[in-house]
Amino acid sequence: MALFSSRKTKFVDSDILVIGGGFGGCGATYESRYWGRNLKIVLVEKANIERSGAVAHGLSAINCYMGMQWDENRPEDHVRYARDDLMGLVREDLVFDIARHVDATVHKFEEWGLPIMTDPKTGRYLREGRWQIMIHGESYKPIIAEAARKSATEVYNRIMVTHLLMDKARPNRVAGAVGFSVRDGNFYVFRAKAVIVGAGGASHIYRPRSVGEGMGRTWYAPWSSASAYGLLIPIGVKMTQMENKIVLARFKDGYGPVGAWFLLLKSHATNAYGEKYEASWFEEIKSLVGKYADITPMPTCLRNHAMLEEIKAGKGPIYMQTQHVLDTREKEEIGWEDFLDMTIGQAVVWASQNIDPKEKPSELITSEPYVMGSHATCSGAWASGPDDCAPKDYQWGYNRMTTVDGLFGAGDTIGGSAHKFSSGSFTEGRIAGKSAVKYVMDLAGDPPQVDETQIKRLEETIFKPLENYEVGRNEIVAGTVSPSYLSPLQGLQRLEKIMDEYVGGISTFYMTNEPMLNRGLELLAMLKEDLDQLGAEDLHQLQRTWELNHRVWTSESVTRHTLFRQETRWPGYYYRGDHPKLDDTEWHVFTASQYDPKTDEWHMSKLPVHHIID
Ligand code: FAD
Ligand code: ADX
Repeated sequence: MALFSSRKTKFVDSDILVIGGGFGGCGATYESRYWGRNLKIVLVEKANIERSGAVAHGLSAINCYMGMQWDENRPEDHVRYARDDLMGLVREDLVFDIARHVDATVHKFEEWGLPIMTDPKTGRYLREGRWQIMIHGESYKPIIAEAARKSATEVYNRIMVTHLLMDKARPNRVAGAVGFSVRDGNFYVFRAKAVIVGAGGASHIYRPRSVGEGMGRTWYAPWSSASAYGLLIPIGVKMTQMENKIVLARFKDGYGPVGAWFLLLKSHATNAYGEKYEASWFEEIKSLVGKYADITPMPTCLRNHAMLEEIKAGKGPIYMQTQHVLDTREKEEIGWEDFLDMTIGQAVVWASQNIDPKEKPSELITSEPYVMGSHATCSGAWASGPDDCAPKDYQWGYNRMTTVDGLFGAGDTIGGSAHKFSSGSFTEGRIAGKSAVKYVMDLAGDPPQVDETQIKRLEETIFKPLENYEVGRNEIVAGTVSPSYLSPLQGLQRLEKIMDEYVGGISTFYMTNEPMLNRGLELLAMLKEDLDQLGAEDLHQLQRTWELNHRVWTSESVTRHTLFRQETRWPGYYYRGDHPKLDDTEWHVFTASQYDPKTDEWHMSKLPVHHIID
């Protein structure tokens, strides 16, 4: 099209290509350089690594730290914690692998300039809870990005990666990726011997509680656009636990996190009448999930469940009783800084609604669902585990390699291992980086081959929404409704409505069942057909079309997994009305899916859960 006739194609060759410069991607870049001194390591990021990803705005805590130097925890303890919190199902080899290395990562962060709070009494890091430590983290991301910037041979900011490239000669091997510059519109072809995806999890696949002009306000970053899954699924990577979406208890409207309030400040939640409610739901929870009701601390999903039942019983709103715990200047500062470092919007809610947390309680509510692999949840790619502790059927070569040769992942990308958070995601990036270097070294003279026709076809596909708009816009005289194209925002809202109403979103109190899921799949299929008709008026909107594409692939996967698992494993995250109880006899397994790009079919299966820690 005239506007983009100057578009150039840029080829970038590398040994290791890292996609996404968030916590997983920065860790992967850093460690690849350490083991691969002479390798060409390229990092590509859709925003700017300086302030990109879920930590763009900073954080106030590091939620995964063992404290082994002070004998606070052992990696085995962390495996037990993650397993319990996920109602029995985690890849224990992967969780263990992160836990044994994560402290070293955190020590590096401190060396690089991250201020970590210390306890004046003990001199140790100030604990928020058993696994979490407090930081002054407004600049957390720039500090971590600097390490990646210094390690990479080249960093390409503002390039949206849209598709992975496959090898011409070997059908199950990755060969690189393609994307476009959101600044000048150039087409980028990255050819690489190994690829590490760290492209982050997904917000906005469900209709958020915030609507209209506020819809950009979500808990997980609105720019977390599901690329970690949307890049992988279409090429046939095996995915796991995609039904395990996470719902978070948050401060209402600003989505402020609750951890520091519950764990460090020792605040508590009550119903509207000032009553503590969690314990009163114990018998009901026990009837749903059996022995898992006895776990302490109460698993994250069950805490949500108690809150939801209390609201349904007409005793809402739920309140965090902040006013009882801010009795010193120091605690008040911690309370405010918790939000100013991590979710400034919550401090703005306080200011705008005349809430002084020293005087008044604040409302809590459950969020819309998100898809992630790094929080109290573990959706993502099925990955090969470490060779010293992974059971045989979890190990097929290189640590953190997916089921596609040469394709690795870290952070939200990798499934089955919950509770990594920021430090664990960076650590997993390091593990993947080391492994990818080994893969490249072992390749010795067998570089992947890229198919020219595949590239040409992808170029046409990627830029088509600009053409759709150029042509279709002539048919409208005013407004945004066009007979010929769909805008990315219209497509996004349609997706969110389907997922919300049929796949367990907020409008049904997270309830779904087989007929609803099947109807959801029908509507998703129609939406998928219409994605060819997306229209983008500029490069920014073109990025939105590809983010939507990744969200739709992810949503379909979530829906199919939710349909496949015929039980309610995580009440409080979602409910199967037709299978309301946890069923350990049939479903003490991981769910897996694999999309076949040749036949356009999905294959669902069960994978065993091996317990390697008592
Ligand atoms: P990210 O860090 O999100 O990185 C993904 C990167 O990929 C981004 O830079 C993104 O721009 C890029 N990208 C995405 N798509 C593409 C594409 N198509 N092409 C190119 N680049 C792409 N953790 C803690 O430890 N402590 C906390 O207190 C804590 N609190 C949190 C509070 C909030 C509000 C949020 C949102 C998160 C919090 N976390 C916390 C969790 C932590 O941020 C994540 O676990 C971690 O960032 C996940 O790492 P990742 O690399 O998978 O994803
Ligand atoms: S954050 O990731 O955005 O910081 P959040 O503040 O909810 O989320 O959680 C921080 C950490 O505290 C997580 O490890 C979470 O599992 C834990 N946590 C939050 N609330 C509780 C609670 N009531 N009991 C036990 N652990 C909790």
